Amino acid sequence: MSTTSIVNIAIVGLGFGAEFIPIYQAHPNARLVAVCQRDPAKLAALRQAFGIPKGYTSYAELLADPEIDAVHINTPIPDHAAQTLVALAAGKHVACTVPMATTVEDCRKIVELSAATGLRYMMMETVVYSREFLYVKDLYESGELGKLQFMQASHQQDMDGWPHYWPGLPPMWYATHCVGPMLALTNARAEHVSCYGSGTIRPELAAAYGSPFAVESAHLKLRGSDLSARIVRSLFDTARQYRESIDVYGSRKSFEWSLIEHEPHILHTAKRPEPEIPSRVTVPDYAHRLPEGLRPYTTEGVYDTAANMHLSFTQGSGHGGSHPHLAHEFVSALVEGRDPRPNAPASANWTCVGLCAHQSALAGGQRVDLPEFTLG
Ligand SMILES: NC(=O)c1ccc[n+]([C@@H]2O[C@H](COP(=O)([O-])OP(=O)(O)OC[C@H]3O[C@@H](n4cnc5c(N)ncnc54)[C@H](O)[C@@H]3O)[C@@H](O)[C@H]2O)c1
Repeated sequence: MSTTSIVNIAIVGLGFGAEFIPIYQAHPNARLVAVCQRDPAKLAALRQAFGIPKGYTSYAELLADPEIDAVHINTPIPDHAAQTLVALAAGKHVACTVPMATTVEDCRKIVELSAATGLRYMMMETVVYSREFLYVKDLYESGELGKLQFMQASHQQDMDGWPHYWPGLPPMWYATHCVGPMLALTNARAEHVSCYGSGTIRPELAAAYGSPFAVESAHLKLRGSDLSARIVRSLFDTARQYRESIDVYGSRKSFEWSLIEHEPHILHTAKRPEPEIPSRVTVPDYAHRLPEGLRPYTTEGVYDTAANMHLSFTQGSGHGGSHPHLAHEFVSALVEGRDPRPNAPASANWTCVGLCAHQSALAGGQRVDLPEFTLG
């Protein structure tokens, strides 16, 4: 990368990835140079709609373009690791949507190649930049929660009808929305995990990845800490509204996610008369932390003119307003010459918790240690 304060970005994969086009275009330190996707008609339409200088239907040709400093990968899950590795080998910094990879070995290769090349890697985990997470992090860091005692997270979603790589995917292979916030809150790494599978999905789904479980629930132990956390995942044949939740329990205050989306979350305060312990909270937006041009992209909620901030109760389609924060963190890290949060080892730790958890579930709940390369 050049030493200028402008980072030349290319987005690869334009389903979910297309949401980031106007965000990078609005960033004062980014230039969206190119987009890549295999369907030429869709590529042309998006380039025209957003005025993007270059378009590629071939990822290899995009990587050969010396103008591009960094790629943001948003392709199907099975492609993440291979596309990350060739991008690093081609001298590009990498941001990649979740998960980092679907094998521990691929996570190791990415961590090693990022370290060997000095190129930055960031897994674009949405939950750790959602307004709810930023709110809980503020409560924790300001001491309002008191001593942290326990955390749990769930991600339940019915993925019937989603693209070809989803049917039968082991729930814990896509666990970073749960694991990420548990570890990002305290800047910890997971040391070991154990997991049980529960229930059974339809045989045709179970055959796809050899994973029979409807629900996987895991406990992970935080390294160098007295804390453990619980995570719960389901993808098929389990009746539940879409929900990515985090609950954080402290000695003085605890945050609990609402049971139904679009309803306000709950803050419990200790040592009050029982009926007064829970109260509904309005989670503020954190748009003020962003460059001005990115602020409108944090909200699908309400703009409170009196408070001069966006207010919302929802996670919703904008993933808690996380997209501009993710892009801003990636671009800022590159401009400032530092590791993004999460960096490669942290991203590997978060991803490998899920991979090791599934391994544990297949072995009847056996404890599995996280690999050493994810702990550094
Ligand atoms: N909250 C989140 O973090 C979140 C939300 C949605 C999706 N995602 C992730 O984003 C990724 C994409 O999701 P989606 O729903 O858009 O999937 P999708 O399968 O609908 O779209 C993938 C896109 O990648 C393109 N593509 C595939 N192979 C390519 C290649 N070799 N070169 C260039 N382009 C290629 C496709 O044309 C398509 O535009 C998935 O990995 C998913 O896990 C994350």
